Amino acid sequence: MVRVPARRRRAFQRRLLAWYRRSRRDLPWRRTRNPYHVLVSEIMLQQTQVARVVPKYREWLTRYPSIEALARAGAREVREAWYPLGYNARPLRLRDIARAALRRHRGRIPQTREELLALKGIGPYTAGAVLSFAFGRDEPVLDTNVRRVLRRVFLGEAARPADRALWDLAAALLPRGRAYDFNQALMDLGATVCTARRPGCRACPLARLCVSYPLAAGAAPQNPVTW
Ligand code: ADE
Repeated sequence: MVRVPARRRRAFQRRLLAWYRRSRRDLPWRRTRNPYHVLVSEIMLQQTQVARVVPKYREWLTRYPSIEALARAGAREVREAWYPLGYNARPLRLRDIARAALRRHRGRIPQTREELLALKGIGPYTAGAVLSFAFGRDEPVLDTNVRRVLRRVFLGEAARPADRALWDLAAALLPRGRAYDFNQALMDLGATVCTARRPGCRACPLARLCVSYPLAAGAAPQNPVTW
């Protein structure tokens, strides 16, 4: 269990959200709360970079504008529509989620974690993303980028925390009512500043709070963990 004092938690929230207001990327799936659109974007983004997802996301929604339209599509057709994103299991999984949503939820994407996780192809990350981005729920997300940011800021570059600890940390850090911006901000920071290689610590709004700062090769961490 990683405990974060309230003062440190609030500083983290404030700095991250202020940075996001200034620096957020204008991405098409951030202009919608449609649960189907959010789900499509998140499944595309699981293994594919943002720049490649943007055109395909638009194309997909033109071709399959609704859950019903997608549920009707054949396997070969959805695989072709997905090309060239790779990982051919994903379009079929998405089509099968659409079919299950029709059968079990009258064509809606369900709004509870349990029901979402019961759909094959939706794991804890995608469930958290749909709940926070489409339904505005205070639910955490944890993907590769978010894991890296939390590990570096709170535990140090060398730490190997259990996933459970990071999920608990992501949940404990959520500012109430602000999960949408907070989660998107964590992902943006991990994708653009707190990158796996050569992180841009000098542009990082969290540098003053970060136990790993600076991450420059060979430098010892400077920040005390104690506040
Ligand atoms: N990667 C996964 N989900 C994302 C999102 N909503 N915005 C940007 N990158 C992402």
